[in-house]
Amino acid sequence: MVSESPSRNTPSVPLIEVEGIEVVYDGAILALADVSLTIGRGEIVALLGANGAGKSTTLKAISGLVVADRALITRGTVRFGGEEIGGIAPNLLAQRGIVHVLEGRHVFGHLTVEENLRTGTFLRRPGRAETERDLEEIYGWFPRLKTKRRTPAGLTSGGEQQMLAIGRALLTRPELVLLDEPSMGLAPIIVDEIFEIVAALNRQKGTTFLVAEQNIAVSLRHAHRGYVLDGGKVVLAATAAELRQREDLHEIYLGLASA
Ligand SMILES: Nc1ncnc2c1ncn2[C@@H]1O[C@H](COP(=O)(O)OP(=O)(O)O)[C@@H](O)[C@H]1O
Ligand SMILES: [Mg+2]
Repeated sequence: MVSESPSRNTPSVPLIEVEGIEVVYDGAILALADVSLTIGRGEIVALLGANGAGKSTTLKAISGLVVADRALITRGTVRFGGEEIGGIAPNLLAQRGIVHVLEGRHVFGHLTVEENLRTGTFLRRPGRAETERDLEEIYGWFPRLKTKRRTPAGLTSGGEQQMLAIGRALLTRPELVLLDEPSMGLAPIIVDEIFEIVAALNRQKGTTFLVAEQNIAVSLRHAHRGYVLDGGKVVLAATAAELRQREDLHEIYLGLASA
């Protein structure tokens, strides 16, 4: 086990503090110019913005996955419980409680739903009884996955694959879940179902979420606070209630305000 830093448990320190980060792909493409945000323990924070605004890159900067895409944090800092984590490998950050659910529902299509879920326990290596309990807990949150437990994941619906990706991430027992566009390509009723489960996990387990979304309406219905990105910069930060009332949100969001 990786030991916890003392500040991790200090409530006054935000869980995540991103301060003025710049991220460059391939040594040339500036994806984030200046992003600062905080995430408190137990919050659901929405990260909004149009396609290409920098949402996924922000998530990758927090989870450490930037390196997997030949990108670097060239300026600014990322702190987790007060401790700087920029440059730490994603598998180590996963062990410390940050899990990233990638855009596009990455599941192992030829493995069954349950086999996919079991891969989520590999970092912790729990015993057999504990694994079974953990699986049952995930099936409790996502009853649809239980009915499909023996089905190859590739044969399940898009919504079920998204639930599977989230369920597998939860099996790492994360403190922070980074969710990248969970609504993408799904029917509104399924999107609602997924966000309801996220909100329930947050209320009942205290799991913290950063959710990148283009779908403003559904994410602001469930988030506590939100940030709007445009061109790799944070252009607006407010509570979800305030953002819901901004009539110019769509304009800001589409970059029209700065154009
Ligand atoms: N793997 C990559 N290589 C080069 N440029 C990238 C890569 N991924 C993203 N970018 C660029 O970084 C910017 C932000 O992209 P991204 O973070 O994916 O935005 P969003 O998730 O909001 O759609 C875009 O200009 C995009 O073209
Ligand atoms: Mg993206």
